[in-house]
Amino acid sequence: MTITQGGTFNFQLSCPSPYLCTNFSIIMILPIVAYGAPVLRTVAKDIDADYPGLAALIEDMWETMYASNGVGLAAPQINRDIRLFVMDSAQIFANLDEEDKGRYPDDPGIKLVFINAYVKSFGGEEWAYNEGCLSIPKIREDIHRPEEVTLTYVDENLQPQEKTFNGITARIIQHEYDHTEGKLFIDYLKPLKRKLMKGKLSDITKGKVKVDYKMTFPK
Ligand code: NI
Repeated sequence: MTITQGGTFNFQLSCPSPYLCTNFSIIMILPIVAYGAPVLRTVAKDIDADYPGLAALIEDMWETMYASNGVGLAAPQINRDIRLFVMDSAQIFANLDEEDKGRYPDDPGIKLVFINAYVKSFGGEEWAYNEGCLSIPKIREDIHRPEEVTLTYVDENLQPQEKTFNGITARIIQHEYDHTEGKLFIDYLKPLKRKLMKGKLSDITKGKVKVDYKMTFPK
């Protein structure tokens, strides 16, 4: 049974009464932290397997990401300074124009959780892709990043991994990984372009922006 209250909370109960069972969960849509918040400029910390409520937090991050039409979400964006991010590149492939089909090597995309991720190396040519960020609404810019990225990380089953990604998947991973390093996509822009968007950025910090998902603003 799924009850949605005002679009903010999803109470997902898998049994008639929560008192009768142990496997029910409350999935929450978390507010997204806006540009200007110190947590977005913090180098995030590693977590242990026994980090309190990790499985529930990952579920909440999926729910929050999909509710805001994001394709990736990093923990600092929900005000946690920990090395955790989720991404789903399959959403991009599902919405690709006919002419763009077959263009990317990682088709049909993948859905992954990254815990304690560290980039080992980058590879391939740099290419431009139009990026946006849930913490910086209404701003999109072409950003150059390397084609490939190799990372070490722990997956959602707490298994250590070392993998190389390419295409759109590598693009989203690099964007989300940057969040855990206190870095934002606008940092890659030329100084003049950054200067020209100063007003827009300060409006976002003050909450003078219209979004259709829940946000918190530093003011
Ligand atoms: Ni972002």
